[in-house]
Amino acid sequence: GQQNTSVDQRLSELCELLKAEITYYTWVGFYFKNGDKEELKLGPYAGEPTDHIIIPFGKGICGQVAVSNQNFVVPDVKAQDNYIACSIHVKAEIVVPLFKNGENIGQIDIDSNVPDPFTEEDERFLEFINEKVAEIL
Ligand code: SME
Repeated sequence: GQQNTSVDQRLSELCELLKAEITYYTWVGFYFKNGDKEELKLGPYAGEPTDHIIIPFGKGICGQVAVSNQNFVVPDVKAQDNYIACSIHVKAEIVVPLFKNGENIGQIDIDSNVPDPFTEEDERFLEFINEKVAEIL
């Protein structure tokens, strides 16, 4: 509907802004719980298209965050065995869950082509972004 178009548009612009302004943010996207299913569905993103539109809970970094409700910082993706590769250029990843009324409804996912770039500052910043996003959902 009109409301969803508007929210998707704003989230898409947010992704583009984060990707443009933060040099080591190579791919920026949102995944959301897919209805009542135990899976995530890709939402708005900025960067190269990914084949991973649907991610089952528990699979990859994103699927693990859907279950753990915790931030997941990956300094080196090659050191992870439960990891879904989207691009051979990606070196690191951060996923921060998005809570609405205390419920984990999705996440922001950032890939970086730079090794080990993410700090606690990124975690606090992305938590803040997700709080603001939750207000418009
Ligand atoms: N690497 C993620 C999959 C999503 S792509 O990074 C866009 C994962 O392991 O869950």
